Amino acid sequence: MAARAGGAAGERRILCVGLVCLDIISVVETFPAEDSDTRCVSQRWQRGGNASNSCTVLALLGAPCAFMGSLVPGPAADFIAADFQRRGVDTAHIAWQPRGDVPCACCLVNASSGSRTIVLHDTNLPDVTARDFERVDLSRYKWIHFEARNAAEQEAMLERVERHNRAAAPGQRVRISVELEKPRQELLPLMGRGQVVRGGAWPRGRGLQLMGGARGAGGRGPGSRGAGVGATLICAWAEKGADAVGPDGELVHSDAFPPETLVDTLGAGDTFNAAVIFALAEGRTLQDALTFGCRIAGRKCGIQGFDGIV
Ligand code: ADP
Ligand code: FRU
Repeated sequence: MAARAGGAAGERRILCVGLVCLDIISVVETFPAEDSDTRCVSQRWQRGGNASNSCTVLALLGAPCAFMGSLVPGPAADFIAADFQRRGVDTAHIAWQPRGDVPCACCLVNASSGSRTIVLHDTNLPDVTARDFERVDLSRYKWIHFEARNAAEQEAMLERVERHNRAAAPGQRVRISVELEKPRQELLPLMGRGQVVRGGAWPRGRGLQLMGGARGAGGRGPGSRGAGVGATLICAWAEKGADAVGPDGELVHSDAFPPETLVDTLGAGDTFNAAVIFALAEGRTLQDALTFGCRIAGRKCGIQGFDGIV
């Protein structure tokens, strides 16, 4: 897989900007009661974080990709960096911070339901800044995916990509996607800048409408509350599959592809994002991309971790 890391010389890649963390995963038969003392069936360390997981999946799908996020040197970062390398994900844009803790999540995966319960420590490591992002050579990327986190800095990064796109020939433009897992107020302006916007924990049925904001009534530009005019909006609903609305208002749905047995849903959404981006970047239709996203995410839910999704 590492051989695919860079792709062919000059081939433009996909960059994912966001969180990498250490997931310490205990697989349990049944969910433990509070203040109980039980044994798990297995335990593993896994590189986690939405953008980082999406890179894993992109690499498994065979797409040359790179990760940009923060780390601080130490044993957890050594594990994470080695795992990126094993998967063939380019880490040249990791922002190494002088202090702070590598974000770490204790995850319980219930093997009998597939549920994942996450307790994340992500408090004191500075995120990548617009200044860090200045060093990214945009001509090397065909797609940049942002996991919405530090809104003001990410807005400046998105502005830079937009400037690049205005000056670039059509075939050299960078496509932009934004994931807003939670509709936190300060993150909403980022929605106006994504060409593809994925919502997470948005209310079913109203999610797409909320994400679209007032664009149906005259449209909104960058920085507004809703996604920009011409954006593709996507909402995923776990076992209910996913819905999307295309730039021209076309509504698209895919059912989920439930595995025979649900064993591990940790990173299902990140898998879905990666597969949708992969398919759209290949020029497939929105319907195809959504179906592909659900198919690959469904496969992920039937296995522990990511090996075996393709
Ligand atoms: P997350 O909460 O991890 O962001 P979602 O729950 O929104 O992810 O699910 C993303 C996609 O993963 C769904 O659209 C679906 O295709 C797939 N998926 C998630 N949970 C299940 C499930 N229980 N059964 C089948 N597919 C699932
Ligand atoms: C899965 C995940 C985990 C991580 C957590 C962070 O989507 O990225 O790998 O622990 O979410 O919120």
